[in-house]
Amino acid sequence: MSQSFGDYQLEIYFSALHGRISDFPMDYATLERRAAHTLPPSLLSYIAGGAGDEATQRRNVDVFAEWGLVPRMLVGASERDMSVTVWGMTLPSPIFMAPVGVAGLVTKDQHGDIAVAQAAAATGVPAMFSTLMQDPLEDVIAHAGETPSFFQLYTPKDRDLAASLVERATHAGYRGIAVTLDTWIPGWRPRDLASGSFPQLRGHALKNYTSDPVFRRILGGKEDPQTVVSTWAQIFGNPLTWADLEWLRSLTDLPIILKGIAHATDARRAIDAGVDGIYCSNHGGRQANGGLTALELLPAVAEACDGRVPVLFDSGVRSGSDVVKAIALGATMVGIGRPYVYGLALDGVPGLIHLLRMFLAEADLLMAVNGYPDFAAVRTNVQRSLGRWT
Ligand SMILES: Cc1cc2nc3c(=O)[nH]c(=O)nc-3n(C[C@H](O)[C@H](O)[C@H](O)COP(=O)(O)O)c2cc1C
Repeated sequence: MSQSFGDYQLEIYFSALHGRISDFPMDYATLERRAAHTLPPSLLSYIAGGAGDEATQRRNVDVFAEWGLVPRMLVGASERDMSVTVWGMTLPSPIFMAPVGVAGLVTKDQHGDIAVAQAAAATGVPAMFSTLMQDPLEDVIAHAGETPSFFQLYTPKDRDLAASLVERATHAGYRGIAVTLDTWIPGWRPRDLASGSFPQLRGHALKNYTSDPVFRRILGGKEDPQTVVSTWAQIFGNPLTWADLEWLRSLTDLPIILKGIAHATDARRAIDAGVDGIYCSNHGGRQANGGLTALELLPAVAEACDGRVPVLFDSGVRSGSDVVKAIALGATMVGIGRPYVYGLALDGVPGLIHLLRMFLAEADLLMAVNGYPDFAAVRTNVQRSLGRWT
């Protein structure tokens, strides 16, 4: 694909000249609405819902309107460099797909993780795959082509199982391990509680466990669905502490990224302990309600990282301009969460490719119009909005 992401709009206009008007929505809100109709209600509420009354989840999105980018003229930003270099690899853009444990379930064939990998291969947008997959991590990465993939670890209580998952991911060619810290226990999620629906407890997205030699050893030959689910539930969440970092570090030479870091002191301590990336996120407001938005937390976390390691960010990103604002406030890479799941639900791989190209194009065109040839220019031209938009 051309590295001028904004060219996607020319493709769309020229196709229309030949009578082919795209069926895909061109704005995210419409896409989300249409995709929602394709999903069974319990899966939709699992994806769309969050913790408590969802105030943090909503504000994660709304807070982006409180920041604005300042246009700079006579710059002639006819070429924009949106690439980022992290852990020795150069990626075409800062966008990546955040880990979503039920991505595998949203395509008709229930092999959505493979569809995500195929869209990553087609767009160059990396995916960070959840531990909770519908297909084993080895099978999924085989579809990602040249695009790097990352593995997100939900650290199980059993250390041998954790080591096995990390070793498998390393061996399969994943380029980094993101350890999620904020989800060793699920938050209070009224929508899911009301329908009594938790996909993993119904046996979904557990393929990385059932394909794992250590997990199977723990099962001790009893591989019926009920035993698998109850064993998984007992083993799933390990409330890690600082003392565990040395052990985590010893598991792999791959970059280790800590997901869920939201405080400057935690970021500094983690970097001092040898981690390679800080991922500022509040899990899209799914885990703890009542928190500050991830975007509000980002500048202090980024400042604490002080360029020593890449700063990953997600929670609330709903457009290409949100991506640019997150970069402006200190992110190195910006994760798309729910939006890409809806792209996938709408029309599988083509729907997801469209969603990603839409975000990339909007970000690129914003940089063109505003006179930002690179992210250095982005970072010096952001300020708090003068009025309240929301
Ligand atoms: C349905 C769903 C499942 C998720 N599963 C995981 C997961 O398995 N591992 C993880 O680290 N984060 C998971 N997340 C959190 C995302 O990685 C990301 O932090 C969040 O979606 C960002 O917020 P946003 O969707 O509002 O943009 C999940 C999010 C959603 C919506």
